[in-house]
Amino acid sequence: MSVLNGKVVVITGASSGIGETAARMLASMGAHVVIGARRVERLESLASDIQGAGGSVVIQQLDVTELEQMQAIIGAAKSRFGKVDAIINNAGVMPLSSLEALKIDEWNRMIDVNIRGVLHGIASGLPVMKKQGFGHFINIASIGAYEVTPSAAVYCATKYAVRAITDGLQQETVGLGIRVTLVSPGVTESELAESITDNQAREFMNEYRRNALPATAIARAIVYALEQPVHVDVSELVIKPAM
Ligand SMILES: NC(=O)c1ccc[n+]([C@@H]2O[C@H](COP(=O)([O-])OP(=O)(O)OC[C@H]3O[C@@H](n4cnc5c(N)ncnc54)[C@H](OP(=O)(O)O)[C@@H]3O)[C@@H](O)[C@H]2O)c1
Repeated sequence: MSVLNGKVVVITGASSGIGETAARMLASMGAHVVIGARRVERLESLASDIQGAGGSVVIQQLDVTELEQMQAIIGAAKSRFGKVDAIINNAGVMPLSSLEALKIDEWNRMIDVNIRGVLHGIASGLPVMKKQGFGHFINIASIGAYEVTPSAAVYCATKYAVRAITDGLQQETVGLGIRVTLVSPGVTESELAESITDNQAREFMNEYRRNALPATAIARAIVYALEQPVHVDVSELVIKPAM
Protein backbone atom coordinates (compact mmCIF):
# COMPACT_ATOMS: atom_id res chain seq x y z
CA MET A 1 0.00 0.00 0.00
CA SER A 2 1.28 3.49 -0.84
CA VAL A 3 2.39 5.77 2.00
CA LEU A 4 0.02 8.31 0.44
CA ASN A 5 -2.98 6.17 1.34
CA GLY A 6 -5.28 8.28 3.56
CA LYS A 7 -3.29 11.51 3.10
CA VAL A 8 -5.38 14.64 2.59
CA VAL A 9 -4.03 16.70 -0.29
CA VAL A 10 -5.48 20.04 -1.40
CA ILE A 11 -4.69 20.94 -5.01
CA THR A 12 -5.34 24.38 -6.53
CA GLY A 13 -5.80 24.69 -10.29
CA ALA A 14 -6.91 21.07 -10.61
CA SER A 15 -9.29 21.56 -13.56
CA SER A 16 -6.62 20.90 -16.20
CA GLY A 17 -2.97 20.12 -16.90
CA ILE A 18 -0.58 19.38 -14.05
CA GLY A 19 -3.14 19.86 -11.26
CA GLU A 20 -5.65 17.53 -12.87
CA THR A 21 -3.00 14.89 -13.56
CA ALA A 22 -1.63 15.12 -10.02
CA ALA A 23 -5.16 14.74 -8.64
CA ARG A 24 -5.74 11.58 -10.67
CA MET A 25 -2.36 10.09 -9.67
CA LEU A 26 -2.65 10.91 -5.97
CA ALA A 27 -6.23 9.62 -5.78
CA SER A 28 -5.17 6.38 -7.49
CA MET A 29 -2.59 5.98 -4.69
CA GLY A 30 -5.27 6.26 -1.99
CA ALA A 31 -5.00 9.96 -1.11
CA HIS A 32 -8.11 12.03 -0.40
CA VAL A 33 -7.80 14.82 -2.97
CA VAL A 34 -9.54 18.14 -2.34
CA ILE A 35 -9.51 19.93 -5.66
CA GLY A 36 -10.21 23.54 -6.53
CA ALA A 37 -10.42 25.74 -9.62
CA ARG A 38 -12.85 28.23 -11.17
CA ARG A 39 -14.28 25.83 -13.82
CA VAL A 40 -16.52 23.68 -11.63
CA GLU A 41 -17.87 21.60 -14.51
CA ARG A 42 -14.33 20.42 -15.20
CA LEU A 43 -13.88 19.54 -11.53
CA GLU A 44 -17.17 17.62 -11.54
CA SER A 45 -16.12 15.58 -14.53
CA LEU A 46 -12.72 14.86 -12.95
CA ALA A 47 -14.37 13.91 -9.65
CA SER A 48 -16.67 11.50 -11.44
CA ASP A 49 -13.64 9.83 -13.10
CA ILE A 50 -11.79 9.60 -9.78
CA GLN A 51 -14.80 8.19 -7.94
CA GLY A 52 -15.47 5.79 -10.80
CA ALA A 53 -11.96 4.42 -10.27
CA GLY A 54 -12.62 4.01 -6.54
CA GLY A 55 -10.86 7.20 -5.41
CA SER A 56 -11.79 9.79 -2.80
CA VAL A 57 -12.33 13.39 -3.94
CA VAL A 58 -13.95 16.62 -2.77
CA ILE A 59 -14.45 19.51 -5.17
CA GLN A 60 -14.68 23.19 -4.36
CA GLN A 61 -15.02 26.20 -6.63
CA LEU A 62 -11.91 28.27 -6.05
CA ASP A 63 -10.44 31.53 -7.21
CA VAL A 64 -7.02 31.67 -5.53
CA THR A 65 -6.96 35.46 -5.79
CA GLU A 66 -9.69 35.54 -3.12
CA LEU A 67 -8.25 34.74 0.32
CA GLU A 68 -11.65 33.72 1.71
CA GLN A 69 -12.07 31.10 -1.05
CA MET A 70 -8.63 29.66 -0.29
CA GLN A 71 -9.51 29.53 3.42
CA ALA A 72 -12.80 27.83 2.49
CA ILE A 73 -11.16 24.96 0.56
CA ILE A 74 -8.65 24.32 3.36
CA GLY A 75 -11.56 24.48 5.83
CA ALA A 76 -13.51 21.99 3.72
CA ALA A 77 -10.57 19.56 3.73
CA LYS A 78 -10.12 19.93 7.49
CA SER A 79 -13.78 19.49 8.38
CA ARG A 80 -14.25 16.52 6.03
CA PHE A 81 -11.09 14.61 6.89
CA GLY A 82 -9.88 16.20 10.15
CA LYS A 83 -6.45 17.21 8.84
CA VAL A 84 -4.54 18.64 5.88
CA ASP A 85 -1.41 16.71 4.96
CA ALA A 86 -0.39 18.74 1.92
CA ILE A 87 -1.32 21.78 -0.12
CA ILE A 88 -0.21 21.93 -3.74
CA ASN A 89 -0.18 25.59 -4.76
CA ASN A 90 -0.41 24.88 -8.47
CA ALA A 91 -2.90 27.38 -10.00
CA GLY A 92 -1.16 29.64 -12.50
CA VAL A 93 -1.64 31.69 -15.66
CA MET A 94 0.82 32.65 -18.39
CA PRO A 95 -0.47 35.32 -20.79
CA LEU A 96 2.94 36.17 -22.25
CA SER A 97 3.81 39.35 -24.15
CA SER A 98 6.73 41.74 -24.48
CA LEU A 99 6.77 44.57 -21.96
CA GLU A 100 6.36 47.17 -24.71
CA ALA A 101 2.92 45.72 -25.52
CA LEU A 102 1.81 47.21 -22.17
CA LYS A 103 -0.72 44.45 -21.41
CA ILE A 104 -1.02 45.75 -17.90
CA ASP A 105 -4.20 43.85 -17.04
CA GLU A 106 -2.43 40.61 -17.94
CA TRP A 107 0.61 41.57 -15.83
CA ASN A 108 -1.72 42.16 -12.91
CA ARG A 109 -3.54 38.87 -13.46
CA MET A 110 -0.24 36.95 -13.38
CA ILE A 111 0.77 38.76 -10.20
CA ASP A 112 -2.63 38.09 -8.63
CA VAL A 113 -2.87 34.39 -9.50
CA ASN A 114 0.76 33.29 -9.52
CA ILE A 115 2.04 35.25 -6.50
CA ARG A 116 -0.95 36.32 -4.43
CA GLY A 117 -2.59 32.91 -5.02
CA VAL A 118 0.40 31.09 -3.55
CA LEU A 119 0.53 33.52 -0.62
CA HIS A 120 -3.17 32.90 0.01
CA GLY A 121 -2.46 29.16 0.06
CA ILE A 122 0.28 29.73 2.64
CA ALA A 123 -1.86 32.12 4.70
CA SER A 124 -4.71 29.62 4.78
CA GLY A 125 -2.66 26.47 5.31
CA LEU A 126 0.15 27.53 7.64
CA PRO A 127 -1.97 28.08 10.79
CA VAL A 128 -3.62 24.67 10.26
CA MET A 129 -0.29 22.90 9.73
CA LYS A 130 1.35 24.66 12.71
CA LYS A 131 -1.52 23.54 14.95
CA GLN A 132 -1.35 19.96 13.65
CA GLY A 133 2.47 19.89 13.88
CA PHE A 134 2.75 18.49 10.37
CA GLY A 135 2.06 19.38 6.76
CA HIS A 136 3.68 19.84 3.39
CA PHE A 137 3.53 22.78 0.99
CA ILE A 138 4.32 22.03 -2.63
CA ASN A 139 4.58 25.24 -4.62
CA ILE A 140 4.69 24.99 -8.40
CA ALA A 141 7.16 27.43 -9.93
CA SER A 142 8.78 26.95 -13.37
CA ILE A 143 12.12 26.89 -15.12
CA GLY A 144 11.09 30.54 -15.53
CA ALA A 145 11.99 30.91 -11.84
CA TYR A 146 15.66 30.52 -12.81
CA GLU A 147 16.02 32.39 -16.12
CA VAL A 148 14.08 34.99 -18.07
CA THR A 149 13.14 34.69 -21.74
CA PRO A 150 11.81 37.43 -24.07
CA SER A 151 8.06 38.02 -23.66
CA ALA A 152 8.13 36.28 -20.30
CA ALA A 153 9.49 39.03 -18.02
CA VAL A 154 6.40 39.33 -15.83
CA TYR A 155 5.59 35.60 -15.84
CA CYS A 156 9.19 34.81 -14.84
CA ALA A 157 9.08 37.55 -12.20
CA THR A 158 6.06 35.86 -10.64
CA LYS A 159 7.87 32.52 -10.64
CA TYR A 160 11.08 34.06 -9.21
CA ALA A 161 8.77 35.40 -6.49
CA VAL A 162 7.28 31.94 -5.85
CA ARG A 163 10.83 30.58 -5.54
CA ALA A 164 11.80 33.34 -3.07
CA ILE A 165 8.62 32.92 -1.01
CA THR A 166 9.10 29.14 -0.95
CA ASP A 167 12.71 29.53 0.20
CA GLY A 168 11.59 31.88 2.98
CA LEU A 169 8.79 29.55 4.03
CA GLN A 170 11.23 26.65 4.16
CA GLN A 171 13.62 28.58 6.41
CA GLU A 172 10.84 29.73 8.72
CA THR A 173 9.21 26.33 9.14
CA VAL A 174 12.27 24.18 9.83
CA GLY A 175 11.68 22.38 13.11
CA LEU A 176 7.88 22.76 13.01
CA GLY A 177 7.27 19.45 11.24
CA ILE A 178 6.25 21.31 8.10
CA ARG A 179 7.91 20.44 4.80
CA VAL A 180 8.22 22.80 1.85
CA THR A 181 8.99 21.80 -1.73
CA LEU A 182 9.43 23.87 -4.86
CA VAL A 183 8.58 21.99 -8.07
CA SER A 184 9.74 23.71 -11.23
CA PRO A 185 8.49 22.21 -14.49
CA GLY A 186 10.00 22.79 -17.89
CA VAL A 187 7.64 22.83 -20.87
CA THR A 188 4.76 20.48 -20.05
CA GLU A 189 1.61 19.54 -21.96
CA SER A 190 -1.30 21.56 -20.56
CA GLU A 191 -3.63 24.44 -21.38
CA LEU A 192 -1.21 27.04 -20.00
CA ALA A 193 -0.27 28.70 -23.31
CA GLU A 194 -3.92 29.14 -24.31
CA SER A 195 -4.15 32.35 -22.29
CA ILE A 196 -1.62 34.11 -24.54
CA THR A 197 -3.34 36.95 -26.43
CA ASP A 198 -0.22 38.47 -28.01
CA ASN A 199 0.28 37.04 -31.53
CA GLN A 200 4.07 37.27 -31.51
CA ALA A 201 4.39 35.62 -28.10
CA ARG A 202 1.87 32.95 -29.14
CA GLU A 203 3.87 32.07 -32.28
CA PHE A 204 7.12 31.96 -30.31
CA MET A 205 5.52 29.73 -27.67
CA ASN A 206 4.03 27.35 -30.25
CA GLU A 207 7.57 26.65 -31.41
CA TYR A 208 9.11 26.74 -27.92
CA ARG A 209 6.48 24.36 -26.51
CA ARG A 210 6.75 21.80 -29.33
CA ASN A 211 8.87 19.48 -27.18
CA ALA A 212 6.82 19.08 -24.03
CA LEU A 213 6.82 16.68 -21.09
CA PRO A 214 3.62 14.82 -20.29
CA ALA A 215 1.94 16.21 -17.16
CA THR A 216 2.50 12.81 -15.52
CA ALA A 217 6.24 13.67 -15.33
CA ILE A 218 5.45 16.57 -13.01
CA ALA A 219 2.83 14.62 -11.08
CA ARG A 220 5.46 11.94 -10.43
CA ALA A 221 7.85 14.59 -9.05
CA ILE A 222 5.09 15.77 -6.71
CA VAL A 223 4.47 12.18 -5.60
CA TYR A 224 8.23 11.70 -5.00
CA ALA A 225 8.35 14.72 -2.67
CA LEU A 226 5.19 13.66 -0.82
CA GLU A 227 6.29 10.05 -0.39
CA GLN A 228 9.49 10.84 1.52
CA PRO A 229 9.68 9.98 5.22
CA VAL A 230 8.60 12.88 7.48
CA HIS A 231 12.19 13.75 8.39
CA VAL A 232 13.10 14.26 4.71
CA ASP A 233 12.29 17.57 3.01
CA VAL A 234 12.85 17.63 -0.74
CA SER A 235 13.43 21.33 -1.15
CA GLU A 236 13.63 21.76 -4.91
CA LEU A 237 12.89 19.72 -8.04
CA VAL A 238 13.48 20.98 -11.58
CA ILE A 239 12.03 18.75 -14.31
CA LYS A 240 12.95 19.31 -17.97
CA PRO A 241 12.42 17.35 -21.19
CA ALA A 242 15.44 15.13 -21.86
CA MET A 243 15.07 15.09 -25.65
N1 LIG B 1 2.80 23.59 -18.55
C1 LIG B 1 3.99 24.12 -18.47
O1 LIG B 1 4.77 24.12 -19.44
C2 LIG B 1 4.46 24.71 -17.17
C3 LIG B 1 5.82 24.98 -17.02
C4 LIG B 1 6.25 25.57 -15.84
C5 LIG B 1 5.36 25.84 -14.84
N2 LIG B 1 4.04 25.55 -15.00
C6 LIG B 1 3.12 25.91 -13.90
O2 LIG B 1 2.31 24.78 -13.61
C7 LIG B 1 1.11 25.24 -12.99
C8 LIG B 1 -0.08 24.50 -13.61
O3 LIG B 1 -0.24 24.94 -14.95
P1 LIG B 1 -0.57 23.96 -16.15
O4 LIG B 1 0.63 23.91 -17.00
O5 LIG B 1 -1.14 22.71 -15.67
O6 LIG B 1 -1.63 24.86 -16.95
P2 LIG B 1 -3.20 24.76 -17.11
O7 LIG B 1 -3.59 23.50 -17.77
O8 LIG B 1 -3.59 26.05 -17.78
O9 LIG B 1 -3.72 24.75 -15.62
C9 LIG B 1 -3.77 25.92 -14.84
C10 LIG B 1 -4.78 25.70 -13.72
O10 LIG B 1 -4.82 26.89 -12.92
C11 LIG B 1 -6.18 27.20 -12.69
N3 LIG B 1 -6.37 28.62 -12.42
C12 LIG B 1 -6.07 29.68 -13.20
N4 LIG B 1 -6.44 30.81 -12.58
C13 LIG B 1 -6.99 30.45 -11.38
C14 LIG B 1 -7.55 31.14 -10.30
N5 LIG B 1 -7.65 32.49 -10.30
N6 LIG B 1 -8.00 30.45 -9.23
C15 LIG B 1 -7.93 29.10 -9.22
N7 LIG B 1 -7.41 28.38 -10.21
C16 LIG B 1 -6.94 29.05 -11.28
C17 LIG B 1 -6.92 26.74 -13.94
O11 LIG B 1 -8.28 26.44 -13.61
P3 LIG B 1 -9.54 27.38 -13.87
O12 LIG B 1 -9.28 28.13 -15.14
O13 LIG B 1 -10.67 26.40 -13.97
O14 LIG B 1 -9.63 28.25 -12.66
C18 LIG B 1 -6.19 25.44 -14.24
O15 LIG B 1 -6.75 24.38 -13.51
C19 LIG B 1 1.09 26.75 -13.16
O16 LIG B 1 1.48 27.37 -11.96
C20 LIG B 1 2.12 26.99 -14.22
O17 LIG B 1 2.69 28.28 -14.15
C21 LIG B 1 3.57 24.98 -16.13
